[in-house]
Amino acid sequence: MASVPFDQLDGHIWMNGEFVKWADAKVHVLTHGLHYASAVFEGERAYGGEIFKLTEHTERLHESARLLGFKIPYSVAEIDGACRELLVKQGFSDAYVRPIAWRGSEMMGVSAQSNRINCAIAIWQWPSYFDPEQKLKGIRLDLAEYRRPDPRTAPSKSKAAGLYMICTLSKHAAEAKGYADALMLDWRGQVAEATGANVFFVKDGELHTPTPDCFLDGITRRTVIELARRRGLKINERVIMPEELDGFSECFLTGTAAEVTPVSEVGPYRFTPGEISATLMNDYAAEVQPKRVAAE
Ligand SMILES: Cc1ncc(COP(=O)(O)O)c(C=O)c1O
Repeated sequence: MASVPFDQLDGHIWMNGEFVKWADAKVHVLTHGLHYASAVFEGERAYGGEIFKLTEHTERLHESARLLGFKIPYSVAEIDGACRELLVKQGFSDAYVRPIAWRGSEMMGVSAQSNRINCAIAIWQWPSYFDPEQKLKGIRLDLAEYRRPDPRTAPSKSKAAGLYMICTLSKHAAEAKGYADALMLDWRGQVAEATGANVFFVKDGELHTPTPDCFLDGITRRTVIELARRRGLKINERVIMPEELDGFSECFLTGTAAEVTPVSEVGPYRFTPGEISATLMNDYAAEVQPKRVAAE
């Protein structure tokens, strides 16, 4: 059955300070963000009616815009407030939250000095995918052809729309071969991340994850590192070469959308999702739930 297209969902979208009907949240075809990828966005999840680490995400949105040379005309507090208000207005408890900011259509060309900076937030229903047994089978990843760019060739720490061009290409190529996703190396040939999630490995009871010097240091990644520390696990943030994948026993991805997702294959390498993946998957599922003070 075909799912409802995203421009035909119900409810409202917050756009430049106002709630507009979902179908009316439109931009002109001569939008700088569309032609020149001058857009930054966030991906957040609400659990039990609260958006997990909302302010961290909004701060990253502001920082992503700064790295692309523009300033979002709404403060972090205003965007946080709009996200929370919209979540209630949409009537969702478990949902995905997508703020985006982009250069508008006042000038058309590489230069966009006087273009308006627009900001919008859309929220749609997305129950947390949590069937531990199913998840523990692990997903299969291909090795991507494209590499994460050198920070000297792109603002690689920004969650910028343009940086996803090679992610979509890599994901499509992997899907065409029957894989769920692809693992990307960086420009030096070091292991970097998947197309929309960070990566961790396990060896002899310790975690290993690439140093995020040319890709997003994910909010989920940092949360999982904190959860692992609480469990007394040692975390090795370091350069990881693809040949080393042979020596790891477990592998998992982390991201707002992926949460903690065990991996069973990366190209020719095999992993067996085990105790550490399962523990961190469960710890993360508990951590994202709103901390409510007991009513009594
Ligand atoms: C390319 C990329 N890397 C990593 C992540 C993980 O980031 P986070 O945990 O903040 O969602 C994401 C998801 O937003 C992503 O798109």
